[in-house]
Amino acid sequence: MPKSDRRSGADRRGVGPIARTVSPPGDRRSGSERRDDAAWQPVSIEGAGAASDSDLALLAAATDARTRAQAAYSHFSVGAALETADGVVIGGCNIENATYGLTLCAERVALVKALSDGHSIFTRIAVVADTEAPTPPCGPCRQLLWEYCGDIDIILGNLNGPTGRVRLSALLPMPFDRRLLG
Ligand code: THU
Repeated sequence: MPKSDRRSGADRRGVGPIARTVSPPGDRRSGSERRDDAAWQPVSIEGAGAASDSDLALLAAATDARTRAQAAYSHFSVGAALETADGVVIGGCNIENATYGLTLCAERVALVKALSDGHSIFTRIAVVADTEAPTPPCGPCRQLLWEYCGDIDIILGNLNGPTGRVRLSALLPMPFDRRLLG
């Protein structure tokens, strides 16, 4: 996504592909059993080699934000860096608390910081965790990123560098959004 691309969240939302359904009637498998379903096709993401110099800079900002994670309960620190169309980078880290359920993910922290500072046009977000496999945004974060950023690029990385790159529409192929509110 070039920095000069100034489309808003609404403009970035095209109509994505619709996922097919696979479960036959009477299939009583549990969540964990269904997650191993051979019919489930994981999202294919571009490999680490697809990262550009500006992707690396955004990953560095996410890595820096991660050092401020408040992850005393999960011990799973995450950093995010959201880039605006003007090239401003807003960092975020996960913030946990003793109720657990009020945890704020790094991506949402970056987003609400950016929105409350008056930014409204976004191009990319980087997410960094200390995991070998890419750590993608969770479901609620995908929903909010879609609402406010549209179909942005997501750059994934760990402490050694990039681990992948994917578009938000690939992670949220059949979104609920304001177009459905009528
Ligand atoms: N977490 C994030 O901040 N972003 C993600 O993409 C995945 C999960 C946080 C939430 C919680 O504080 C910890 O990681 C473990 O789930």
